[in-house]
Amino acid sequence: MPKRKTSTKARQKLAVKKSAGKKVVKLKAKKTAAKATAKAAANGLPRPSAKPWGQAGKALDGVRILDFTHVQSGPTCTQLLAYMGADVIKVERPGVGDITRGQLRDVKGADSLYFTMLNGSKRSITIDSKHPKGKEILDRLIKHCDVLVENFAPGALDRMGLTWEHIHKTNPRMIVASVKGFGPGPYEDCKVYENVAQCAGGAASTPGFREGPPLVTGAQIGDSGTGLHLAFGIVSALYQRIRTGRGQRVLCAMQDGVLNLARVKLRDQQRLGHGPLTEYSQYGEGISFGKAVPRAGNDSGGGQPGWILKCKGWENDPDSYIYFITQAPVWGAICDLIGKPEWKSDPDYATPPARLPRLRHIFDTIEQWTMTKTKFEVMDICNAVDIPVGPILSMKEIAEEPSLRKTGTVVEVDHPTRGKYLTVGNPIKMSDSITEVRRSPLLGEHTEEILGKELGYSKAEIAEIKASGAITAPEKGARAEAA
Ligand code: COA
Repeated sequence: MPKRKTSTKARQKLAVKKSAGKKVVKLKAKKTAAKATAKAAANGLPRPSAKPWGQAGKALDGVRILDFTHVQSGPTCTQLLAYMGADVIKVERPGVGDITRGQLRDVKGADSLYFTMLNGSKRSITIDSKHPKGKEILDRLIKHCDVLVENFAPGALDRMGLTWEHIHKTNPRMIVASVKGFGPGPYEDCKVYENVAQCAGGAASTPGFREGPPLVTGAQIGDSGTGLHLAFGIVSALYQRIRTGRGQRVLCAMQDGVLNLARVKLRDQQRLGHGPLTEYSQYGEGISFGKAVPRAGNDSGGGQPGWILKCKGWENDPDSYIYFITQAPVWGAICDLIGKPEWKSDPDYATPPARLPRLRHIFDTIEQWTMTKTKFEVMDICNAVDIPVGPILSMKEIAEEPSLRKTGTVVEVDHPTRGKYLTVGNPIKMSDSITEVRRSPLLGEHTEEILGKELGYSKAEIAEIKASGAITAPEKGARAEAA
């Protein structure tokens, strides 16, 4: 077949069309590439919100926590997650609840401060996890939630039938986070409370004075400390799930958490193998070291010697003391303040190594000065010249400190049965996730709300569940019969 002749005009038209088409394709490709580059630069994130700071929701909005925790370690973790915006559904045994509701009670008939200060901003549902109907509700909750948090004794969750295998099969996206006393090893089956962890984590061997017994600290590094570690593990697992789509197990052993907080003492243990610990006052006092890190009284844990010194009024006020650090760069200012300007050039005092054998005498001399001032006067005078000091604040002073109220670190909340109480708000401040501290829930306060609104049970079904005994405590008569 003869080829059709194309006119010059038509050829020109075709060429223009072709080149225009190429241009469109090129432009499209350019646009796609630009989009891809922008997306890569944004790390796959949405466009920055234009909402005012603090009005774009909270950090963990949309995250649902199935909270099986009790006592302190687990509840610290889930309270923090609730402060960050997660919906925390606390599961409690019908009629009993978290044992701390009734522990250390100060107001008759009301939930204790032990409970209320660890369970703010959560909802409470009562479920008998060993009741067949209760198990069914729990399975719905497992499907509904993102994270299950628990701190039962080893094996208790499995005995409820909530093994990892069961949970993972029911909801492969669920993260299962646990606090246990010990990790795998000889003590893994032990029940553990705060002070057991402080001792087993190495921390209790270090406070106190050289000649005295080991001491535990009032800061709950075993319980609250491990709860904090667990919260970090959960948030990390949630982040990883964005990529993998699957949940995982998160375990924090209290022994490990305490050791993590006491790591500087393990540092000193290793340094001890290379010679004496020169910043410990026993070095200056000529007392030799043993095989393990000794108790160091109020010695500073860092390289800048420090001690607790009396302030004006110490005779009547057990907290009239200040922590005083003789930081090397401000040694001159310290000498001027305490009326010892000659120490600035005296070879026995002028350098940190020269001062080490004389620390006791130096702190005694500084104390003669601090005893003439209140701890707050010392704070003001020293900070004006950059000398680091810390007043020993009593819990009464902390409770009344206006600046802590202002920042929301100490918060007053109202409770229907106990009235107003103070709690510790979120110690982590975020500019776009503003914490709202709500009172702790009453036992089972949200049971029906969660069954109906979250899990989709009808009114009739809820009535049936109630009658089954899965969410309510047995009647007194029935209990007596059972006994
Ligand atoms: N419905 C039915 N049963 C429930 C229930 C519910 N909603 N919630 C809890 N239970 C049951 C558990 O199944 C368990 O029963 P089981 O042992 O017969 O199987 C029982 O209540 C108590 O659990 P357990 O954790 O053993 O409580 P405990 O009071 O004896 O021990 C601890 C408390 C804290 C020592 C222990 O939980 C523990 O070692 N936890 C891990 C470490 C930890 O977090 N310690 C610090 C606490 S601040």
